[in-house]
Amino acid sequence: MGAWFNRVTPKGLYPRSLLIIITPMVLLQSVVAFVFMERHYNVVTHRLSAAVAQDIAAIVSLYPLLPKTDDHEDLRRIAWENLRLNLTVLPPGPLPPAGPKPFFSVLDTALSREIGRRVTRPFWIDTVGRSNLIEVRIQMKDAELRIFAQRNIAYASNSHIFLLWMVGTSLVLLTVAILFLRNQIRPIENLADAAEAFGKGRDVENFRPRGAREVRRASVAFLEMKRRIERQMEQRTTMLAGVSHDMRTILTRFKLELAFMPECEETEALRRDVDELQGMLEAYLAFARGDTGEQVTLTDMGQVVEELRQNAERDGAISNATFMGPPLVEVKGEQIKRCLANLVNNAVRHAHRVDISGARDARWLIIHVDDDGPGIPEDKREDVFRPFLRLDDARNQDKGGSGLGLSIARDIARMHGGDVLLAESPLGGLRATLRIPV
Ligand SMILES: Nc1ncnc2c1ncn2[C@@H]1O[C@H](COP(=O)(O)OP(=O)(O)OP(=O)(O)O)[C@@H](O)[C@H]1O
Ligand SMILES: [Mg+2]
Repeated sequence: MGAWFNRVTPKGLYPRSLLIIITPMVLLQSVVAFVFMERHYNVVTHRLSAAVAQDIAAIVSLYPLLPKTDDHEDLRRIAWENLRLNLTVLPPGPLPPAGPKPFFSVLDTALSREIGRRVTRPFWIDTVGRSNLIEVRIQMKDAELRIFAQRNIAYASNSHIFLLWMVGTSLVLLTVAILFLRNQIRPIENLADAAEAFGKGRDVENFRPRGAREVRRASVAFLEMKRRIERQMEQRTTMLAGVSHDMRTILTRFKLELAFMPECEETEALRRDVDELQGMLEAYLAFARGDTGEQVTLTDMGQVVEELRQNAERDGAISNATFMGPPLVEVKGEQIKRCLANLVNNAVRHAHRVDISGARDARWLIIHVDDDGPGIPEDKREDVFRPFLRLDDARNQDKGGSGLGLSIARDIARMHGGDVLLAESPLGGLRATLRIPV
């Protein structure tokens, strides 16, 4: 029941708020209209019908008392002048057959009942045949009385005006409510958009806290949080860059001093160490550069995937690349290339075959990099994301890099609001998956 209710009710805040306004309004009006029809309208119609029936009964009683002239002038005059009934006296004859009862007519039932009660003679009525007249025929012993009455004297006819007013005013109120609600909802939508954009690493342009107090509070908190995160990122970058830079200066000095030393086995080893240290530092710097402030642009992922394949082949791997779905994606192109290049380089380093398969649907851009190498045991798949952590140490010394590749890749993916995940590949090795929202 709850699940069903959740499914049929709209998901957006705007339609929901509208529903909250409209439903009670419609319910209230239905109840009011029903009670009104049931009570007021019925009672009034019955009273009016009773009055008409009484008038007719009076004529029926008068008919035998007045002298019978040819045209029954007295009776007709009394009927017209005092009761506003148009009377004709017809020769006696059978009444016409009863017409079909009009559907949902209070008047017909009420009038029939009242006439039946007050006039003890056979009668026939027609409340629908003529638009604003009611025709009643009464069978007398020696004649038939045909009486026309104005429809609106027997009928609470202006009730539809009440309904019209009710529906009309509520439409006006609804329009006003819709306009005002839209203005209340828009700041919330803007906040959601801004938060989403920030989560995907995009620029949040001209977002200002607006709207109701609570929404403004949330917006201010969001801006505060955004500033704090940006400051932190900036701090990290400058700190890392500073450290790396200082160390590079010292390293250069170190190398210079080494060059002046006489060549021997020890200096050779020292030089190798210094080179390795420098390599690590370069990688470190690249890591520190992390967010280079690149802007989001439309990037053709099909092309990116193809470039990666060519690079992989150049590095001696057998590679295959596919991309499915619309290839143009809004990302920081260079960063994403770097992220994927790190994944592909890892695969090339550990395997012979590298398959790159991308797909993009309405919500996600997903790119798998599969290889047929040794893979990574399941319990290590989280650890390898840690900066400077290399499993290769034990396996193969000279093959390894600095252990930053996956950290950088994941960093970039998360900057886009996505992630890099490792799993087992259908090819037998490792499957590295980049997944970012689009
Ligand atoms: N495709 C793969 N197959 C097997 N092991 C892998 C694969 N990719 C990464 N690894 C393991 O994960 C570790 C961390 O990878 P990461 O890319 O972070 O660093 P790296 O490749 O050693 O150095 P860098 O990428 O900075 O040159 C690697 O040392 C390696 O042991
Ligand atoms: Mg690597």
